[in-house]
Amino acid sequence: MNSLVKSIIVLGGVSLQSVNAFTSISRSNVADISTTSLNVYGTPRKVQIIPSVLPADFGKLGADCKRLEEAGCDRVQFDVMDGNFVPNVTFGPETIRWCRKYTNMPFETQLMVSEKCTDAMLEEFVEVSKGPNGEPGVVIVHVEACTHLHRALGRIRAAGGSPSVALNPHTPAEMIENVLDLVDHVLVMTVNPGFGGQAYIPTMTEKIKKIRKWIVDRDLDVDIEVDGGIKATQETIGECAAAGANCFIAGSGLFAYDDLSEGVKELTDMALEAQGVAVGAK
Ligand code: DX5
Repeated sequence: MNSLVKSIIVLGGVSLQSVNAFTSISRSNVADISTTSLNVYGTPRKVQIIPSVLPADFGKLGADCKRLEEAGCDRVQFDVMDGNFVPNVTFGPETIRWCRKYTNMPFETQLMVSEKCTDAMLEEFVEVSKGPNGEPGVVIVHVEACTHLHRALGRIRAAGGSPSVALNPHTPAEMIENVLDLVDHVLVMTVNPGFGGQAYIPTMTEKIKKIRKWIVDRDLDVDIEVDGGIKATQETIGECAAAGANCFIAGSGLFAYDDLSEGVKELTDMALEAQGVAVGAK
């Protein structure tokens, strides 16, 4: 982003920190790699650590979002569950709207809800996921909950959001092959959705590799997110990063740290190492 734009934005009272955070949603997330011995197929993409709010204190969710921002997280994921698509219930758009008052961090909303809820409320979720200045927020719909997935992704983009599609562990990658050109992110669930603290499913690694190959071979600017059981270990974040994922959702794996910024650093370093990118070159 050229200096003129930055100075205009700074004059407009937006901190550079939030500018950088939102540009990470723009369509050039290739890592600034200095010295590398690349493990990943294609050029590694920018490592992003994205906490899930599921383990947070729902009584002070806004304050916990602020803590995550101060710990250096790239954005925060709101797990919307309706007790229908998944056997658990969390919150709706109003809770996300309130959290915006506490932080400038980019938001990501994962809609683990029935088709009826998606159809009725999609634009509202796009709206509350936006940044403090209307920047696009990431909105994730599940392929298993959308008969008209192509249309739903188009609605997110048209409403000013950043579209993303999620796949449950049993769902083959081929289910999203024909909408890869519509999304900025693909979310590969590495646990069955509905709860935090579950074990990572290692058979998801091949699915990540397959989607990564499609993205690189078709020269698409798409991030791969993984969610579920992600910890600062070779077997989880390491495996996913080497397979081509670059956005890492962490719930219990991050909230286990007393010092959240230490957790963000350990997760980031492990992912960079697995990508073969020099640690610190985030
Ligand atoms: C589960 C959610 C995940 C979950 C991750 O349905 O989508 O985001 O909170 O939690 P951990 O990292 O503890 O598996």
